[in-house]
Amino acid sequence: MIKKVAILANGGDVSGFNAVIRGIVKTAENNGVECYGFIEGYRGLLNNEYIKLDTYNTASGILHKGGSIIGSSTNANVFNYKVEENGEVVYKDLSDVCVENVKKDGFDCVFTLGGDGTQKSARDFMVKGMNVIGVPKTIDNDVACTEITFGYNTAVSVATEALDRLHTTGETHHRIMVLEVMGRYAGWIALESAIAGGADVALIPEIPYDINNAVEKINDRVKKGKRFSVVVVAEGAAPKDGTITIEGTRDNGTGVDNTKLGGVGQRVAKELENLTGLEARNTTLGYMQRGGTPTAYDRVLSTKYGSKAMELALEGKFGTLAVIKNGKLDSVSLEDVVGQNKEIGAVSGNTAESNIRKVTMDHDLVRTARNIGICLGD
Ligand code: F6P
Repeated sequence: MIKKVAILANGGDVSGFNAVIRGIVKTAENNGVECYGFIEGYRGLLNNEYIKLDTYNTASGILHKGGSIIGSSTNANVFNYKVEENGEVVYKDLSDVCVENVKKDGFDCVFTLGGDGTQKSARDFMVKGMNVIGVPKTIDNDVACTEITFGYNTAVSVATEALDRLHTTGETHHRIMVLEVMGRYAGWIALESAIAGGADVALIPEIPYDINNAVEKINDRVKKGKRFSVVVVAEGAAPKDGTITIEGTRDNGTGVDNTKLGGVGQRVAKELENLTGLEARNTTLGYMQRGGTPTAYDRVLSTKYGSKAMELALEGKFGTLAVIKNGKLDSVSLEDVVGQNKEIGAVSGNTAESNIRKVTMDHDLVRTARNIGICLGD
């Protein structure tokens, strides 16, 4: 029988973190289990910093709130943690401190809310003997073994609203309107919002693009009387024989992707302007996709994920990830989630080598986009 559990939210934030927390806490309370939340993801686990979560105090009124009431951390890989020693930056494996903290304070299970990097660390903790259960988060929708992550639907909704707005201004001024959306290795947001927002071109990381194909599509629209076009570009899209566009780099140690993506929208807008003779403008949507209130869909999905995760803990099914499979709640082993990436403390996520879920060419969204004439750049 489990008595005391803790939650941590890790990685880039999404709308829905709080709804998952609420789902876990309510299900826990209804089963006589005490719930705590580590502050700022794995960093809280390392520093043993946590708060009590209960539905009438700390976890009250949070269903619709963006962000995370227990924070989150994007640079806390405790298997390769950045510390300063004698004025020098060094990276250390501090995972044993975390395992000890959990043991010492008697947590029967730790729920890890996060993307592929977070779940990779969760799996490594499981190997080290900690009871963990993952919940798949990320706006990019790229966690392996699940059909949808929480936060994704909200991001698609924000992108769709942006496309609706760009449509009217683009049409007024006969311009090409480019929207750069997030999507580091997977183009789910770009593809789905392109369909929802009636875009003419969608460029995604999975399909290296030839700009001439987009030009052809736009010119064809002009010939047919449409002197404006709307283009969605995922931040990780790259031209055939070209590279991704990088805004900068950072130093979060090895095993994580230290590139900060950005700029491909501007690049595509410039090229399209030169090649079509039409005016083009870029809008980069950025963190708008991650902040603010979750959609109704994400509130429900997050609540389902939270309650399922707690159910798994009550059943003693540790080392698993709550997932949606064939449209239904289910669970898979974290071993399957990390795939071949089995070395403890190796690639921790947000890298091309991690086991992420990309758009496949036979996916309904790709077929639908092609059927209705959205140019995918190939
Ligand atoms: O992984 C989700 C994501 O939204 C990526 O699409 C994006 O590249 C990244 O987060 C940016 O995150 P941050 O700037 O917070 O590190």
